[in-house]
Amino acid sequence: MPLLTDWRSTEGVPGYRALADRLRLLVLDGRLPVDTVLPSERTLAEALQTSRTTTTSAYRLLRESGFAEGSQGAGTWTTLPRDSKLESPIWPEHLSGEADPSGARGDFSSAALEAPAELYPAYQAALAELPRFLPGNGYVTSGLPILREGIARYYTDSGLPTTPEQILVTNGALQALHLALGVVLERGDRVLVEHPTYPAAAQAIRELGGRCVPLPVEAGWDISRTANLIRQTGAHLAYLMADFHNPTGRLLGEAGRRELGAMIADTGCRIIVDETMREVDLRAALPAVRAGRPVPGRLPMPRPVAAFAPAEHVITLGSASKTFWGGLRIGWIRASQPLIRRLALARGNQDLGGPLLEQLATVHLLENLGPITTQRQQLLAERCVALHDALAERFPDWVLPLPEGGLSLWCHLPEPRSSHMAAAARSLGVWVTPGPRFGLDGAFEARIRLPFARPVPDLVAMADVLARAWHSRGRAAPFDDDRTTV
Ligand SMILES: Cc1ncc(COP(=O)(O)O)c(C=O)c1O
Repeated sequence: MPLLTDWRSTEGVPGYRALADRLRLLVLDGRLPVDTVLPSERTLAEALQTSRTTTTSAYRLLRESGFAEGSQGAGTWTTLPRDSKLESPIWPEHLSGEADPSGARGDFSSAALEAPAELYPAYQAALAELPRFLPGNGYVTSGLPILREGIARYYTDSGLPTTPEQILVTNGALQALHLALGVVLERGDRVLVEHPTYPAAAQAIRELGGRCVPLPVEAGWDISRTANLIRQTGAHLAYLMADFHNPTGRLLGEAGRRELGAMIADTGCRIIVDETMREVDLRAALPAVRAGRPVPGRLPMPRPVAAFAPAEHVITLGSASKTFWGGLRIGWIRASQPLIRRLALARGNQDLGGPLLEQLATVHLLENLGPITTQRQQLLAERCVALHDALAERFPDWVLPLPEGGLSLWCHLPEPRSSHMAAAARSLGVWVTPGPRFGLDGAFEARIRLPFARPVPDLVAMADVLARAWHSRGRAAPFDDDRTTV
């Protein structure tokens, strides 16, 4: 049921079609696994407070389009459309996923790098320090003091003076987001989100009873439009990714931050700024790699958004996942001290703290931040250029803007067939996330997010698979072309 909140919200689309569309998207992007038995038509109608005709027609449409099998009376389960022109799977055996025990073979659904060389020594150093902590009970709900100090220093060095008491260490930025929303969001609140946005954020907002209001950002942030939207919708909260937006890779510049800060002070809106990608800066590295020059030092970053707005109005989320490694599961919240105290109390009700070894390892990694980010920028820029060129060669009519940062290309397709391509690619052994996953109500069917975090041979193999998927025209063709909002 949480996956079906807001299923009806597209105006002018008949209910059965809206429901079928939502279920189809859930199957395509994997949130509803293939072979899931769907509730009976009557049960679903009751749960959604809709008519039995709506659910019956929606299931019929799903069956006709190849996204479900079964029949009235015998039950209905999810399937993917079969395309007779595609065989499966074709992911080449020798590529890196084979050796990846996390099972990433052919999986391009996550934009995250392998661990840097400094990671293992950081764990070794952490292990050597662990005995010091063993006489204690090991529970550190707000985070290890030495890590809170390291993170506070990181912000202070970025131009945002911060004390350790303003930091709460979490198990990743996603947990940080859930905690922050749990404390500041009331059921029924409208929340401004960039459009496209990070799917897990939109989902978290919906699960906690919030209603997402889309703020277009493909062409950059328009702050006066943001202020108008806030006034028109009565939103008290916004979730923004100003430091390399996922998925577009854009950065909000210094002037935009000033305007945003003034707007926050003016409207009283609170914002959650997700800076997970702040260290994945490609502005200097991409042109250098493209020109075959050595990668220069990093360009100056604008100060974090919190430096421009009243302290009580901004909650900043950070993460070690994209800077260092997702397997650390270290994230954090930076906020005013009273808010951090409330958040720590809320956290203690759900989870009593994070593992110590990972926190100690992160202290060492933060001490090495400069060299690690420089080396990763070079690696990512090389991969980004390689994927960009492989796609440009295979898809001359796609528009492929180069990002300022982050780990993905947000590709503009000439036709709204992103979900079709993703489904066809999946039957060839490659997982990619279709554009609508980043949109509200099925938007972005003419976009696809392609991460360039994997080694170049994998990226080229992915481009080959996508070329076959794109040119296949089987039953996977979307049945809702007429309602796509791009
Ligand atoms: C914008 C954004 N926020 C949060 C996360 C989740 O980060 P973590 O691994 O720290 O939970 C991601 C991961 O992709 C992300 O892109």
